[in-house]
Amino acid sequence: MRSDDDLIGWARAGDGAELRFGRGDDDDRAPRAEDGGRPGPAPGEHAGIGRRRFLAASVALGLSGVAARGRAGVLCGAAVATSPGPFYPGELPERADLVVRPGRTERARGSILRLSGVVRDRACRVLPGAVVEIWQADSAGRYKHRRAPEQDLLDPHFAYFGRTQCDADGVYRFRTIVPTSYRFAGVTRAAHIHIRIAHPDHGDMITEMYFAGAEHDRVRRQDRVFQERPAGLRDGLIVERVPIAAAAVPQAWRARFDMQLG
Ligand SMILES: [Fe+2]
Repeated sequence: MRSDDDLIGWARAGDGAELRFGRGDDDDRAPRAEDGGRPGPAPGEHAGIGRRRFLAASVALGLSGVAARGRAGVLCGAAVATSPGPFYPGELPERADLVVRPGRTERARGSILRLSGVVRDRACRVLPGAVVEIWQADSAGRYKHRRAPEQDLLDPHFAYFGRTQCDADGVYRFRTIVPTSYRFAGVTRAAHIHIRIAHPDHGDMITEMYFAGAEHDRVRRQDRVFQERPAGLRDGLIVERVPIAAAAVPQAWRARFDMQLG
């Protein structure tokens, strides 16, 4: 597992297939090449890194050789390695639905988020079986952790963290909620989800995913942890949310976040 001392940003070019979202439903679909929904950005660009900006950042970081690797020059993922933060749970149960606890019917407070993406290796090959862990704050900005404040005020219906495995196409899927920003130890933190990916042959990486939008942008400007991420690559941690139109599920969103290992 990388530490803060290993902090480095990277993103790679490749020839990954175009992957798109569906629209207007609340099923478990994740990005699939055959989906004919909303025209989506090229893989990697969804996370906020345009190809031109990626190449500029790559040159600045001495990664131009990596950027030139892709046959078609199409990004297939972007990530910035970060520390786990103070609230990494350690042991995460196998759990892809953080919204409704097993055996219960009440759902967590907050807006539902269908989070999915593809995990690839440095050659942009999908990684079936890669493990993906997420941990995050709830709708009130609280973590479930013995070192986190206000443990008596947690959302009893929210699961806070979970682990899943990528399928044969390298796709992972979680149902969670959109977290809220918080302050801890005097530091303002914009809303984010911590993610760890691991594969037996490709090591592991911890990163963070943030949300696009004016209010999130405003808080991010005060978030010195985010601001310390490598300039030019940190925007690649920001995802656009797509509303899910199903009337029965108000305040539901879909977001896609691809990552690379190696
Ligand atoms: Fe956090």
